[in-house]
Amino acid sequence: MLRIRNLNSGYGKLQVLYNLDIDVPTKGLTVVVGPNGAGKTTLLCSIMGIARVFSGDILYEDKSIAGKLTHTLAQKGISYVPQMGNVFAELSVLDNLQMAGYLSKKEDAKAKAEQMTEIFPVLKKFIHRKAGTLSGGERRMLAIAMGLMKDPKLMLLDELSTDLAPIIAEKVMMEVSRLRDELGITILMVEQMAKRALEIGDTAYLLVSGEVRYTGKADELLNEPELCSMYLGIKQADDKGSSFTLSATDEGSDQG
Ligand SMILES: Nc1ncnc2c1ncn2[C@@H]1O[C@H](COP(=O)(O)OP(=O)(O)OP(=O)(O)O)[C@@H](O)[C@H]1O
Ligand SMILES: [Mg+2]
Repeated sequence: MLRIRNLNSGYGKLQVLYNLDIDVPTKGLTVVVGPNGAGKTTLLCSIMGIARVFSGDILYEDKSIAGKLTHTLAQKGISYVPQMGNVFAELSVLDNLQMAGYLSKKEDAKAKAEQMTEIFPVLKKFIHRKAGTLSGGERRMLAIAMGLMKDPKLMLLDELSTDLAPIIAEKVMMEVSRLRDELGITILMVEQMAKRALEIGDTAYLLVSGEVRYTGKADELLNEPELCSMYLGIKQADDKGSSFTLSATDEGSDQG
């Protein structure tokens, strides 16, 4: 569905990504992992027309979308859930959903919002609450639901586990695999919670300093002890290893 070829991109004159080749097959869950500052968010921003593409190409359903406006890409069925600030804290859950459904007619958006509360029952409970009062995990569910309001073919998910307690992050990861398994959505997911992401993903890319260092099956990257310990903080002996440090009580700390 998405093919990235020899992509060089960045911000202004600053180059962040170098010669990237990435394939996102239809209905698959493609995972991009890598240390802080590797360029993961920049990759998604390059696809969404937010970062600057210097050279190379980004093909979506065989047509170039490099440099296209974010709004145009949303209309084409690409939905982007940013790393932070992905909900409107002052608006209710329902208003957030309806706002995200701006591409649909009002009645359709209403029906779709209803459908979202069936997919994510936790949202039904809090439908009239301000999104800013949701816990971090609930807020991520809302952000995913907002992405789904646009009826996407392709979803770009940026580090949904950021700032979540491990148990909540795990729940969010399970929801992501449901998107693929039950709704058949094609997903490109960037994650710092590398171990879990590699377990649920189909294909994986390891990004280090703006360059691809591994391309292959997601779970097979877990069999590369050197790459895992050097870049992902996953130690082979410690099966619970993961690439991030969290405070277990920090569940509601991200500002929407
Ligand atoms: N808007 C921007 N303008 C200039 N430089 C930026 C901008 N956004 C990011 N960068 C730089 O680009 C590099 C890659 O950043 P990016 O946010 O893509 O990393 P990341 O892999 O998503 O990291 P993290 O895991 O911390 O989210 C960093 O050196 C960062 O400082
Ligand atoms: Mg990032």
